[in-house]
Amino acid sequence: MKPSTPSPSPWVLSERAALMNPSVLRELLKLTEQPGIISFAGGLPSPKTFPVAEFEQACARVLRDDAHAALQYAASEGYGPLRERVAAGLPWQVDPAQVLITTGSQQGLDLAAKVLIDTRSRILVETPTYLGALQAFAPMEPQVHSVASDEEGVDIAALRAAQAAGTPARFMYVLPNFQNPSGRTMSEARRAALSATAAELALPLLEDNPYGELWFDQPPPVPLTARDPAGCIYLGSFSKVLAPSLRLGYLVAPKEVFPKLLQAKQAADLHSPGFNQRVVAEVMKDGFLDRHVPRIRALYKSQRDVMLAALARHMPQEVSWNRPVGGMFLWARLPAGLDAAALLPKAVARGVAYVPGAAFYAGAPDARTLRLSFVTASAEEIERGVCALSAVIREHMV
Ligand SMILES: Cc1ncc(COP(=O)(O)O)c(C=O)c1O
Repeated sequence: MKPSTPSPSPWVLSERAALMNPSVLRELLKLTEQPGIISFAGGLPSPKTFPVAEFEQACARVLRDDAHAALQYAASEGYGPLRERVAAGLPWQVDPAQVLITTGSQQGLDLAAKVLIDTRSRILVETPTYLGALQAFAPMEPQVHSVASDEEGVDIAALRAAQAAGTPARFMYVLPNFQNPSGRTMSEARRAALSATAAELALPLLEDNPYGELWFDQPPPVPLTARDPAGCIYLGSFSKVLAPSLRLGYLVAPKEVFPKLLQAKQAADLHSPGFNQRVVAEVMKDGFLDRHVPRIRALYKSQRDVMLAALARHMPQEVSWNRPVGGMFLWARLPAGLDAAALLPKAVARGVAYVPGAAFYAGAPDARTLRLSFVTASAEEIERGVCALSAVIREHMV
């Protein structure tokens, strides 16, 4: 039988759909997830840190004591006791009524984008910045301005110039602690300057802090939101301290924006899973995180040290890297003339993967940068992986 000509598709996609780019990271991860590859590419917490036994007990208790409510539709704001716990755990005065439980902090980014960005609104981001935030903002069609940043964080003179150069930005998106991708932490002095400058310029801040608890030697300086709660929306997450599959995070917003964020949340998914919220509240009671998080810190710190030692031992001296004081990522820079994206297939062929840094730039990328996660590979894999990567870099140096 002759195949019939396919009829034209009835589906007309919105212009907005064209702005929803596939995550370069997820595409890359497919390449790096081949068997036998040592991957420094993923942004995944170490599964060794998931408190499986505590979850097992908490799930059983929730089902025994509160099953009907836990399995029912629930309030969009979130489960009351969890909101209270979140508010009580933050280092500034937070009314639980200002806490919205979200489906991961990624949803917080999406809701903030919907509520704050009009087509062609200007927004400011750091250089580099979190790719997932750029993805969440893109469908709202903002003009994204990448503000120059150094190892201490946002360059204040560049921020002033950016605000003076065009229509005032709706907000600046900032990641002060152990940034994804660069691993850097904003210094106390820079936070004070950013907070004062943002207030002076009437520039709201969207502060994203999923890694803040994962410090190695000392806690980072207090969040920007603690300095000016009325001028900031704060995003937090349970993904890195408990487990990412819970898909639970939260935002804290000033009273004048909270109702709109809540309405956006209602439209998006009615509420975050009530069962998961109760399980997390149950796991967290009796100060569990105070015992659990130090174990994550110790593991990640030792992993970072293994990677730093391996880099020092193997890398050519033309390669540079930083020394993150928390979190999951280290940021490195290849010698002049090398491009991290072009080098990746060659590294994968040698059995090691990383994420080229270019994807994390809203403006002109630095093609020599790359992100290395030090938390999922074992110490022995880190040593072998860094050794293989150094060999590939040496071979391609001019
Ligand atoms: C900077 C940053 N923000 C937000 C997220 C989203 O986290 P989640 O939705 O799991 O809370 C991530 C995830 O890796 C991240 O790195």
